[in-house]
Amino acid sequence: MILYRDQLVERTEIHIDIEDRGYQFGDGVYEVIRVYHQQPFYLDAHLERLKRSAEAIEINLPYGFNQLKVKLAELVAQNQLVQGNVYLQVTRGVASRTHHFPVKSEPILVAYTQQNDRPIQALNKGVHTVTTEDIRWLRCDIKSLNLLGAVLAKQKAVQQHAHEAILVREGVVTEGSSTNLFIVENGQLLTHPANHLILHGITRQIVISIAEDLQIPVKETHFSKEQLYQADECFITSTTMEVCPVIQVDDREIGRGQPGKITRKLQNAFYQLIS
Ligand code: PDD
Repeated sequence: MILYRDQLVERTEIHIDIEDRGYQFGDGVYEVIRVYHQQPFYLDAHLERLKRSAEAIEINLPYGFNQLKVKLAELVAQNQLVQGNVYLQVTRGVASRTHHFPVKSEPILVAYTQQNDRPIQALNKGVHTVTTEDIRWLRCDIKSLNLLGAVLAKQKAVQQHAHEAILVREGVVTEGSSTNLFIVENGQLLTHPANHLILHGITRQIVISIAEDLQIPVKETHFSKEQLYQADECFITSTTMEVCPVIQVDDREIGRGQPGKITRKLQNAFYQLIS
């Protein structure tokens, strides 16, 4: 079953209009929420971010948080989802094609579940990455359906047999194509400030607060590609990748090609939260 507007229905019952603005313009916002033990993880934070993204592009969410939570719980229960993701999107709705906002259109919400396992091998061994120019727009803090910049970057990574593309804007490392990025330098965690140039990741926020609990210093600051190459440790974070070690960037090994100690500490603390 999927959630379409406020109803649970069979996926095959739903037809998306060719003039849905999400389909034609990427005019909408989305969230990916992890489900552990049948429970959506940090659901409130995801809904808050969805609301912020929607407000930033002047879409009114069609349902309140309480109603949404009830519907998402029904969706997870109906699909007997134990471990996986909920994908949720809201588009501006259907209207005759014009670039500007239509005078009348009703936002359309769709959500569905995907069963999938934790990426255990990547979490244990770490992943390879490549750097690429960050060609995305200047509102990366909005979780918009427009993902072409991310799609092209990830494709470049895949073509080079890497797991993630690390984006660099004017020499500054911003984030991954679908992840946030941290490096460890002299015992300190560095990550790009949460401004308009990155998505304010929920996992990023969780890691920052775990690090504070563990008394690992965190600095939200700019750092260069050269600093990334020279980092003692590096890891990426996201809803689906959790806290994942990076052991290679382009042709440079990070931390002699092994996940670092601080990364392991943060992974362990994160694991406590989801167990
Ligand atoms: N991606 N940065 C970007 C550009 C992202 O798309 C994501 C999430 C993140 C991590 O955010 P969070 O920790 O809140 O998942 C950072 C999701 C998972 C996706 O598009 O599939």
